[in-house]
Amino acid sequence: MANFALESNPFNNHISDYMKFFIDTANLDQIREAQNFGILDGVTTNPSLMAKEGISGYDNVIAHYKAICEIVDGDVSAEVIATDYEGMIKEGEALAALHENIVVKIPMIKDGIRAISYFTSKGIRTNCTLVFSAGQALLAAKAGATYVSPFIGRLDDISTDGLDLIESIREIYDNYEFSTEILAASVRHTMHIVNCAQIGADVMTGPLSVILGLLKHPLTDAGLAQFLADHAKTNS
Ligand code: G3P
Repeated sequence: MANFALESNPFNNHISDYMKFFIDTANLDQIREAQNFGILDGVTTNPSLMAKEGISGYDNVIAHYKAICEIVDGDVSAEVIATDYEGMIKEGEALAALHENIVVKIPMIKDGIRAISYFTSKGIRTNCTLVFSAGQALLAAKAGATYVSPFIGRLDDISTDGLDLIESIREIYDNYEFSTEILAASVRHTMHIVNCAQIGADVMTGPLSVILGLLKHPLTDAGLAQFLADHAKTNS
């Protein structure tokens, strides 16, 4: 439903001018391919994605984040491993110091909300991850998170509509003009992206295969084949 109050407010800044596309991987080749595709706005990673690429040990993890920041001129979410307040602050400050595009990814737990509040007060940007409810998203926004990451695919996995959560968060954030951006995560297929765009998610993060899946339509392929065949008939 159109929100006319917001449309008529020239100062509203809580709905992005355009939908950002992040790639959800730590694979440098895929990040390069997405960057070369020309539509990439950023990268999200998590400890599982780092492990999938065989990246282990503090120095290697740090070097990997630096390598990602060299490929992409956009926000790169780097997740803390600590789950206690002091540990998250220490790790997060070190990550934020690596590059201006690093966004510190913090889990949705009590100390995580405290840590997000702290980082907000210091001007360090955050992404609140592992969000599965509107109440959690409200807390993240209250703490000043730059991004909130609802995991829509994992909700779908347990027979709960992940897109309903995006809709609820959009409504709550619009009600109060929270500037926290809704970053739809755990995106599994192209219609997740399309539906998130319809609802007004500010960002989606997904695998390269899902982003490239948006290209596909059999009528495009058939139409192009016909155009080329007709061109060849009169230009051979
Ligand atoms: O962005 C979060 C993502 O990495 C989780 O995705 O597919 O493991 O639920 P998935």
